[in-house]
Amino acid sequence: MISPNTIQQILSRIDIIEIVGSFVKLKKRGANYLGLCPFHNEKTPSFTVSPAKEIYKCFGCGRSGNSISFLMEHEKYSYVESLRWLAAKYNVEIEETATSPEFKQQLLVADSLFIINGFAQQFFSDALFSTEEGQSHALSYLKERGFREDIIKKFQLGYNPEGRDSFTRAALDAQYNLEYLQKSGLVTTRDGNSYDNYRGRIIFPIHNQSGKILGFGARIIRNNDKAPKYINTPENEIYVKSKILYGAYFARLAIDKSDECLLVEGYTDVLSLHQAGIENVVASGGTSLTPDQLRLIKKYTNNLTIIYDGDPAGVKAALRGLDLALEESLNVKLVLIPDNEDPDSYVHKVGAAAFTEFVEFAKKDFILFQLEIALRETGNDSSKKAAVVNQVAETISKINKAEDFTRQQDYIKQCAALLKIGEDGLHALVNKFIREKITKEETRSFRDEQRNTEQESGLPGTKQDTEVLALLNRDEMFEQAMIRSLLEFGMLDWEGEKKVADYIFREIDENQLEELIDNPELVKVLHTYKGWYDAGLEPSAKNFLYHDDLQMSALVVGIMDFNYELSHKWPEHFEGHIATREELYREEVFSTLNYLKLRKLKRMMDENQGDLEKATVAEDQLVLVQTHQHLKKMEIELTRQLGTVIFR
Ligand code: GTP
Ligand code: MN
Repeated sequence: MISPNTIQQILSRIDIIEIVGSFVKLKKRGANYLGLCPFHNEKTPSFTVSPAKEIYKCFGCGRSGNSISFLMEHEKYSYVESLRWLAAKYNVEIEETATSPEFKQQLLVADSLFIINGFAQQFFSDALFSTEEGQSHALSYLKERGFREDIIKKFQLGYNPEGRDSFTRAALDAQYNLEYLQKSGLVTTRDGNSYDNYRGRIIFPIHNQSGKILGFGARIIRNNDKAPKYINTPENEIYVKSKILYGAYFARLAIDKSDECLLVEGYTDVLSLHQAGIENVVASGGTSLTPDQLRLIKKYTNNLTIIYDGDPAGVKAALRGLDLALEESLNVKLVLIPDNEDPDSYVHKVGAAAFTEFVEFAKKDFILFQLEIALRETGNDSSKKAAVVNQVAETISKINKAEDFTRQQDYIKQCAALLKIGEDGLHALVNKFIREKITKEETRSFRDEQRNTEQESGLPGTKQDTEVLALLNRDEMFEQAMIRSLLEFGMLDWEGEKKVADYIFREIDENQLEELIDNPELVKVLHTYKGWYDAGLEPSAKNFLYHDDLQMSALVVGIMDFNYELSHKWPEHFEGHIATREELYREEVFSTLNYLKLRKLKRMMDENQGDLEKATVAEDQLVLVQTHQHLKKMEIELTRQLGTVIFR
């Protein structure tokens, strides 16, 4: 875990304008900055960043957050990855502390696995180069296939001998723990006997970004129907298949330099292209690309060129998962290798120069390629063509980031021409898919929200009615308004020595907050605030922004108000003076609090009314009527006071 001290250092250096500004073009507008929202497609900017509040908010799609949530959402980083990104940006050295025992244990296992893999790599390399068996069986095979020794060494290839347990014995002799050896996938135990898992196979170590070995691919030497061609490390603490791109460690500089990443299927394709001097190449391992792998690529470049076999299976594999690439705004190009060759065999056949030339010549845009293939199959069948049109529109709708707007328009134009249909029609269809997607996302988050409130309140799923929910939401807005006034004005003067926070906490009973505020998350914010305040701190929204309770932090960000800052410009535009919210803070604190009190009062009156209807004994009725009158008087008083101030 990153130490609190490091986190503090990182947070103190955060400049949200700089951070968001490295992904979005921002222009200064008054106290805020404005730009095109990176989270939805728009032509006029409604994405606002406040340097003072250290938050952003889009008035178009409603997304909001702080620097960290921006990185999490925009770059798809985890919380910790965001911190690491910031640390790198601001040159903060990361201090690690392992706090929880589980986490310590996990680090321990990961470390052990790395150490075992390092030992194994050394063992397998020695077996390849320095044993008679390795040389005659494995090295000769690799050389026959045309791999040079410098490439074999660079990629640290090795050989696991045929004998049952030569590696296992060496590892146990060197005191490595059997349990970790099993976890690493190198050793299997059956009936109390442990033996090598990759017997008689060529070993391809798989490196992480910093060159440490995560696991291995083990290739059989002579193809055999019974045994799989490759065996890979099983998933463990460090080998997570969906995050692995073979060759990334050796390719990163070349990818950076050429601003392009070539993607092939196999280990040997990577090796052969490197050998031919083409180094910006990684392998997916023959499965469709995962979001994590796409993100890894996107760290280095936006240009992805997929080079697969030209057979139908290769085409299918190449096209799978690519909609995701579009959503990540990667530029995807496709190259299909002809004549049943793969990149490995093809580069051996034609040589480096011809291979590069071929790639440049054969490179096709992914969307147009997909369309061409589909059109080839439809012929004159108009119902099939309708399906193709729909499919293309859906694909194009995935390109929906602000910065990709022109690209999207280009695609609409080109695809409409290929399909021989009107641009406007295709445009409308694309927009339909975008709308559908947004609705789907909204429904999903709406449902999630509902599920959450149900879980919290323990109520069964009865609140299906949207109108009810809208009402609840309005009610919640009043709750939020009160918390917002505390967060923004809490440390301002109220009366004499007293601050706004003192006033608020005098008016509300800390032990009965639940009666005043329905949303338990907001109650939590109040308790947290009170805790800090009692401890002598001067809390503000900023304390919450980077709170490691992300839910609470998100909630506070959502509550923060932008209009308030924009309103500072009013006096310049209007004759005379219009009071700003800051000048009216007493009224705001007063009215937001009273509003909630009034609501509580109304609820008490309803309850009282219910009791009255049920009461049969005269004395009880009298008490209840008196209570009603008392509450009514309070209500009138509160309403009168409220009426004298503007409630926003
Ligand atoms: P060569 O045939 O030696 O050139 O290897 P290759 O890398 O070209 O293999 P191929 O094109 O058949 O497969 C591409 C990739 O898919 C491989 O590099 C492996 O990552 C993966 N793969 C292929 N066969 C298997 C298998 O039997 N099991 C597993 N787990 N992965 C495989
Ligand atoms: Mn191959």
